[in-house]
Amino acid sequence: MKVTVVGAGNVGATCADVMAYRKVASQIVLLDIKEGFAEGKALDMMQTATLNGFDGRVTGSTNDYTKTANSDVVVITSGIPRKPGMTREELIGINAGIVEGVTENILKHSPKAIIIIVSNPMDTMTYLALQKSGIDKKRIIGMGGTLDSARFKYYLSQALNVPANDVQGYVIGGHGDTTMIPLTRLATYNGVPVSDMIDADKLAKVAADTMVGGATLTAMLGTSAWYAPGAAVAALVDSILNDHKRLYTCCVALDGEYGQKDICLGVPVIIGKNGWEAIVDFKLTADEQTAFNKSADAVRAMNAVLSTIKA
Ligand code: NAI
Ligand code: 2OP
Repeated sequence: MKVTVVGAGNVGATCADVMAYRKVASQIVLLDIKEGFAEGKALDMMQTATLNGFDGRVTGSTNDYTKTANSDVVVITSGIPRKPGMTREELIGINAGIVEGVTENILKHSPKAIIIIVSNPMDTMTYLALQKSGIDKKRIIGMGGTLDSARFKYYLSQALNVPANDVQGYVIGGHGDTTMIPLTRLATYNGVPVSDMIDADKLAKVAADTMVGGATLTAMLGTSAWYAPGAAVAALVDSILNDHKRLYTCCVALDGEYGQKDICLGVPVIIGKNGWEAIVDFKLTADEQTAFNKSADAVRAMNAVLSTIKA
C-alpha cells in the first residue's frame, strides 16, 4: 500500500517515520516544496531500516507529484504556522491556497486517494478540501480530535495515576482551544466512570489542560507539537489501510448528525478502507449539545473567511 505525506516538516516527517517503523505502509512518499528537504528526510529514515527492522520504502520528492501517483492515502501537513503580527484571516488565506493547490495536484495523480487534512486551521481546511475537490465526503478526514483525545487520555491517566492505555475518552467539536469539548462524562478507567474516581475540580482541570494542550506545547517548544500529531495521523492511516474500523474522533462533514449541517467538525467515526465509514451519533446532554453548537458557530465563522479570500 502507498501513502503520500505532503509537507516533510515536523508533523509530516514524524508521521512518515512512525508509519515506516510500525510497518503501516510498504511505500511512503514524502513531498515538500523545499529543494531536497523531503529527499533528505526520507534518506535519513531509510538509514533506520536495519535498526528499526522494517522493509518498506520511504522516498522523497521536491514538488514532483508524479512520484505520488496511485497513493491509497494522502496526508496533507503542508502549511505555515501563525506568525507574530499575522491575523487569523491572513493565515487562513495562505494555508487555504496551499491546501487547495496540494489537493488538486494529489487528485490528478491519485484520483481514488483518501485524504487526511492536518494543516491548520484544520476544521476549516477540511471543509475547504471537501468543497474544492468535490469528492465523496467519506474520503476527506480532518485529524484533530484523535490527537486531542490522546492528550485527554494522557491527562486523565496522570490525574488517576494509571497507565494511559487503560483510559478511554473522547474529545469532540473543533480542534481549537475554545472549540474542543472533552467528554468527561463518558471517560472511563477500564469501564469505570472516571467521575466516580476523581473529584469534579480535578476533572475540570483535566478538561482545561486538554483544551490548551496544543498551546501549552507551542509555548514550551517555540512551535507546535509533532510527536503526538504524527502518531495520531499514523494511527488513522493504519486503520484505513488495514480496514481495522477503529473508532476515532475525526473532523468530517456533518449532515444533520449532532444537529449540524454544512460543516466539518470533530465527532466519533469508524475509520476503515473507505475512509470514515460511519458517524457514531449518540445523544449529548443539553450542556454538551450547547457546547457543540457553540463550537460549530466558531468554526462556521472561520469558514466564512474562505469566501473573502481572493483567488
Ligand atoms: P513545519 O513548518 O515543520 O512543516 C510544514 C512543511 O510544509 C514545511 O516543510 C514546508 O516547506 C511545507 N510546505 C509549505 N507549502 C508547501 C506546499 N505548497 N507543498 C508542499 N509542502 C509545503 O510545520 P508542522 O509543525 O509540520 O505543521 C504543519 C501544519 O500542521 C501546520 O499548519 C500546523 O499548524 C498543523 N498542525 C495540525 C495539528 C492537528 O492536530 N491538526 C497538530 C500539529 C500541527
Ligand atoms: C496542536 O494541537 C497546534 O494543532 C496543533 O498541537
